[in-house]
Amino acid sequence: MNRIDSAVKYCYKLFDILYRRTLCCRQKRGVVLGPIRYLMVGAFCGLVWTSIMSTSLADPAHDNAAIEQRVHALLAQMTMAEKIGQLSQRNASEAYVADDLANDLRAGRVGSVLNQVDVDIVNELQRIAVEESRLGIPLIVGRDVIHGFKTVMPIPLGQAASWNPDVVRAGARVAAHEAAKAGVSWTFAPMIDISRDARWGRIAESLGEDPYLASILGAAMVEGFQGDDLSAPGTIAACAKHFAGYGASESGRDYATTNIPENELRNVYLRPFKAAVDAGVVTLMASFSDLDGVPATGNAFLMQQVLRDEWQFDGFVVSDWDSVRQLQIHGLTESDKESAFEAANAGVDMEMHGDAYLNHLESLTGEGRVSVETVDVMVANILRAKFRLGLFENPYTDPEQFPAFGDDDALSTAKTAALQSVVMLKNDNDALPLSVERLKSIALIGPLADAPYEQLGTWIFDGDVELSITPMHAIHSLVGHDIDVRFLRTMETSRSKSTDAFDEAVEIASGSDAVILFLGEESILSGEAHSRADISLPGAQAELVHRIRQTGKPVIAVILAGRPLTLTNIVDEVDAILFAWHPGSMGGPAIADLLFGIDSPSGKLPATFPRMVGQIPIYYNQKNTGKPPSPDSIVRIDDIDPHAEQLSLGMTSFHLDAGYTPLFAFGHGLSYTEFEYADIRASANEIGIGDTITISADLLNKGDVAAEEVVQLYVRDLVGNVTRPVRELKGFKRVRLEPGQKITVDFELHTEDLAFYGRNMQRITEPGVFHAWVGGSSDAQLGTEFRIVDGDKVRK
Ligand code: NOJ
Repeated sequence: MNRIDSAVKYCYKLFDILYRRTLCCRQKRGVVLGPIRYLMVGAFCGLVWTSIMSTSLADPAHDNAAIEQRVHALLAQMTMAEKIGQLSQRNASEAYVADDLANDLRAGRVGSVLNQVDVDIVNELQRIAVEESRLGIPLIVGRDVIHGFKTVMPIPLGQAASWNPDVVRAGARVAAHEAAKAGVSWTFAPMIDISRDARWGRIAESLGEDPYLASILGAAMVEGFQGDDLSAPGTIAACAKHFAGYGASESGRDYATTNIPENELRNVYLRPFKAAVDAGVVTLMASFSDLDGVPATGNAFLMQQVLRDEWQFDGFVVSDWDSVRQLQIHGLTESDKESAFEAANAGVDMEMHGDAYLNHLESLTGEGRVSVETVDVMVANILRAKFRLGLFENPYTDPEQFPAFGDDDALSTAKTAALQSVVMLKNDNDALPLSVERLKSIALIGPLADAPYEQLGTWIFDGDVELSITPMHAIHSLVGHDIDVRFLRTMETSRSKSTDAFDEAVEIASGSDAVILFLGEESILSGEAHSRADISLPGAQAELVHRIRQTGKPVIAVILAGRPLTLTNIVDEVDAILFAWHPGSMGGPAIADLLFGIDSPSGKLPATFPRMVGQIPIYYNQKNTGKPPSPDSIVRIDDIDPHAEQLSLGMTSFHLDAGYTPLFAFGHGLSYTEFEYADIRASANEIGIGDTITISADLLNKGDVAAEEVVQLYVRDLVGNVTRPVRELKGFKRVRLEPGQKITVDFELHTEDLAFYGRNMQRITEPGVFHAWVGGSSDAQLGTEFRIVDGDKVRK
């Protein structure tokens, strides 16, 4: 029952009671109160009514019942054409208000626009929708604000390397404020596709390979964009994408087919989406890709069964760009009309940049193939979101109410994110940190030392390159005149094959005390539709490393890239590697601070680094196989006797030329201090279903600098109704320790945290033995075990 209904009923009841009382008094005492009695009662009820209504009206975007009532009141006034208009999202990227768009807005044929960030144009589009259309329904204005707006944060994969939800939340908060200043009310983020394939260009945009990490960080990003009050200025609707499975595209080729068995889908790929829904995400985006033969945009299992029936999602689902009409190209339908039929019935509420709904939904409802009720639900989902965002009360944007783009707060948030996202992959002989006191000269060499645009990363439609501070500039300002800094770009781009400048680079390196190579991929080599089959350093970079190594100088590689790279051919040729992803506007100052030890590296890998591309997919939470490999069971291709006959080689699961381990494991990342883990223990040997167990370990900072460490908890369920991964991340904590400081880190695990989807696709927690490890990477060796002693006996 909504607030207005209850207010009316309450007043009636009150009136009734008072009336009976006075009537009864009159009868008893023989007193007639007459009109005074009615006046008193009326005034009292008026007071109650006003107070209830004022709470309700002052807070319209927060009252779910009131919102439902408004949604249905509005729906009742809408024609079918106006309803279908709400389901349509139009590209509005022109630098003016196009006549056809304005006419369609007046006619109620547009529910949302995307790609307009000129606040005056956005306000004018809103004005036409609100003041010149029959029902005055405001637009929801979408934009890809993926890792920052004007101020650019590290790419999401880099943010994930911080393993810090506070950093991710704060970055999204800044992005929301800046985007809202431009009139944007809806971002198409977070992208929470699990990806185990670094060839896929969009891994840059993801939160990595692990469902637990992506769930925690994805939810934090939703909270950052949406705040705790969706209608407050500076909050924007988030969009969890791409629902679902997109990250598993075959061979990492963008938009390619995905085949994911339902059990794997539920235990891995859907988990971050469930977390986003639980965090209150307002919208989801359907994936471009085919999933087990039914493209996600037409997939009712995903959008009806899982999303609506199981998860009770009450926001709306938007298609991806023209993905409704692409159902025909996939080969699922033979016309746009059939595509509209499939997508609408499957649960896509809004069509992004396409006209299948506009052109065909009305006739589909006329034919009874898409029911009017279905259309009403689709429209209601969208209107509900608009009411929650407070767009009906505040459709216009006053940019003056927001801080300036790229203000101190935004830049310091970007710097913290960059600092915590850099992962130190190796540091032989304490090559890092560099010492301002001891060095007289350094050589900065490479295509990415001073490339303000390239350090920003993939989704930077609105990123302000003027805000970028490059490593070269930051190092200059950090060391001042104390060190002679010699810079040679050497290669035009990361892809250049020319070695013309290599001699000069070698000369500069030879005359310097240390060399810092700025290598990697420029930003155009990752992101949507930018997949690579060879993910080593492109162009002549490996040769540059080789030439510089021969100078005998200490060589530090700072690598900027949008994905894990195969670094096997250079890893032994450098003393240290800082992997900085595309670190965003403040990448330079963050990298400079880390190079010179102002701060210690603390990032950890959110995705496994393969030795060779042929190992892909390689990820830490794999299944065991029936023939798991071990160091002594594998055979190296070079060790095979040239005269050997075909016989069994090792008989375990490995590659002759790559073994079975990655180059760098998930969770790996070094520090300028040494952390020592000890004394892992479980609070109980056995627990029952519904109980909580605490896994604890001691952590000591053995070095002489203060530093942060991301402590990780992994668990293995030894026997399952379906096979379980060899390890699963179940907890992590970022902690700061002073030199010599020792702390105990506790992780609480409820048995629900150990649940998984079994053979019948139901979540179960099973009895049995669990191993647990605590450490600084997924290779952690410090382990213990415990047992769950009762539970769903769905066995085995
Ligand atoms: C296509 C991408 O797949 C999606 O992530 C993005 O939000 C839309 N285009 C809109 O730009």
